[in-house]
Parts: sequence; structure tokens; C-alpha cells
Amino acid sequence: MPNRTMAQRGDTLACTEGILETAGMSPVMRKLASQIQLAAATDASVFVVGESGAGKELVARAIHAASDRKDQPFVAVNCGAISGSLAHAELFGHEKGSFTGAVTQSAGYFESASGGTLFLDEVTEMPPDMQVHFLRVLETGTYQRVGGSDLLRANARIICASNRDPAASVADGRLRQDFLHRLLVIPLRVPPLREREADAVILAQRFLDALNERHQTRKVFSRRMLDAMARYDWPGNVRELRNAVQRAYILADAELNLELAARPRAARQAEVRDGQLSLPLGTPLGDAQREFILATLAHYAGDKRLAAESLGVSLKTLYNRLDVYEKGDPGAPRG
Ligand SMILES: Nc1ncnc2c1ncn2[C@@H]1O[C@H](COP(=O)(O)OP(=O)(O)OP(=O)(O)O)[C@@H](O)[C@H]1O
Ligand SMILES: [Mg+2]
Repeated sequence: MPNRTMAQRGDTLACTEGILETAGMSPVMRKLASQIQLAAATDASVFVVGESGAGKELVARAIHAASDRKDQPFVAVNCGAISGSLAHAELFGHEKGSFTGAVTQSAGYFESASGGTLFLDEVTEMPPDMQVHFLRVLETGTYQRVGGSDLLRANARIICASNRDPAASVADGRLRQDFLHRLLVIPLRVPPLREREADAVILAQRFLDALNERHQTRKVFSRRMLDAMARYDWPGNVRELRNAVQRAYILADAELNLELAARPRAARQAEVRDGQLSLPLGTPLGDAQREFILATLAHYAGDKRLAAESLGVSLKTLYNRLDVYEKGDPGAPRG
């Protein structure tokens, strides 16, 4: 059974500490760190919401690592990737001979996470029939392997994550209300990087320190790159930041330089909450359009076809707009 948790273990240990190391960081991150500690002391289900690349999985791993379950497995399942006839067997395991190809008995993700933590990533993408089944398992505390009759006791702590707003996901029929109730005992929000002003530079320095240490170098950021990083609003969040530092590090001899297509922060006061976008009056039309397009794309989890459809434009038009935004020319009336 594929288990990306194991493969990433080495990388992860350093990181999970990362999210709890908030010295000098924004108050929202310090608050998140204390919420992680509180959540870790309980067995309650946690629902982590945040934009792509903001650090949701890291939060889940940090909760696990700070909990009594830390020496037991952390199993991550991408709910968007499990579907179809084998989904039940993947999650809950199967007995030998229960379907064609089931040559041996196999534990599912749920059983593998027993005693530890099951991380349901992109939980809003879980197929509806699976949500019903899962809810029943959580409510009864027992489950059966596919084709099996033994009742197994459920003993995995559930943490789930989504970059969609859970209430909006219920409203648009993706997520069952009763399932959400069960999952959302402790809600946590990982703020996007643009909401935590100084954190980008602090994180960037940590990433650079780690690279310097690993490769025995002493490279530094140029003043220009530091300024650019502080001004940029990081639509891809910490993942984008980490990649940017890595790229600049590879290209640099001694001083890291990287052009970031920064747009003035002041222009970006859009806020998405509960599936609604709000913009200050007086926002230039070009900026408003950009915010609306980017928020729609985020709402559809980056699915450009769905986003284009809902915006009533062709896929080509959407690509043209995104291309313009990427080049940092917000208001350009092209495409
Ligand atoms: N506070 C942090 N300190 C160090 N690294 C971080 C921090 N937050 C995020 N990262 C790194 O940024 C990358 C993205 O984080 P993560 O995978 O947890 O994001 P995510 O919210 O789950 O993204 P997605 O929605 O795309 O799955 C990872 O490489 C992670 O290690
Ligand atoms: Mg993730």
C-alpha cells in the first residue's frame, strides 16, 4: 500500500518542529502554535483549513508529533485520489478473496493508522458514499474489512484538511453536513503567507540556513531579494517561498538574487470567507477582476476547467489572464 508518510519521514521531522518555532513570527502563527499544542493534548478530530502550500499537512504532523500517539503511525490519505470500487478496500482493508485480485488479506489506511493518526487530506473531495460509510465508522467506533465479518475497533485519531471552506463545501453539496459536524471538533486555520507580514523573510532565512548547512556554504540574500520577498504576496504560500529560495540558492555564487513580480500590497485587500469574496470599494476594476479570478480558481482547488466554466469564460481566456498575472501586470486589459 503506498504510504507517502514513510518516504517523507526524514524531511518531516525537521519541518514539524518548524511550525512550532515561532520566535519573532507573527501573532497569528504564535496563536496557531498554541492551538496545535492544545489539540495535541486531546483525541478530538481536527479540521485544518488553509490555502494551498500554507502548511496544513505540517500542522497535522505537528499535532501528531506533539501527541501521545507520536510513536505510532501517521498515515496520510489523499481523499481526492481514492474513489471507485476499490475505495472501501483501500480505506478499511479487505479479506483474502473478497474481490478479484484480493489474493491476500490487507489492512486499509484506517487500520494502518491504528493507535496513531489518520490524516484525511483534501477531505472535501471524499466521494459522498464514502462519507456516509466513514461517518458510521466514527460513530460506532467499529468497522469491518471488505469481505470480512470481524468487527474491528477503530482507534485512529482523525485530522483532516482542505483548501476549501468547509461551510461552502456543505453548501455546494460536496461535503455532508453530518460528516462535517463529526470532523470539525477543533477547527484550525493556517493563514496564508500574505497575512503574516514578517514571516516570509524569517522562513526564507531558515530555508537558506538549512541549505547552507547541508552544503557547507555561506550564501546570503541580496538586499534586493529580501525587499522583494517582503513585498511579494506569495499566492503559493510557504511552498512557493521554499521553492523560490531553493532556486535562487542554486543560481547564486555568494549572494542570492531573485526577481519576484511584486505588486503593491495595498492593492491586495480582498478577503475570502465562507465562500464569499469581499473587496474594498475603490478597488480598480482590473484588480477586482484579478482577485475574483484568483479566488474562484482557489475555490475550485486550482481546477482551471471548473473555474473557467463557473466564470463563464473559455479555458484559453483563463490561461491568458493567469499568464498576465504571473508576469505581474495586474490590470492589463488583455485576454
Ligand atoms: N512554518 C513552516 N516552516 C517550515 N516549512 C513550512 C512551514 N509551513 C509550510 N512549510 C513547508 O511548505 C510546504 C507546503 O506545506 P504543506 O504541504 O504542509 O502545505 P499544504 O497546506 O498541505 O498544501 P496543499 O494544500 O497544497 O496540500 C512544505 O514543504 C512544508 O514543509
Ligand atoms: Mg497538503
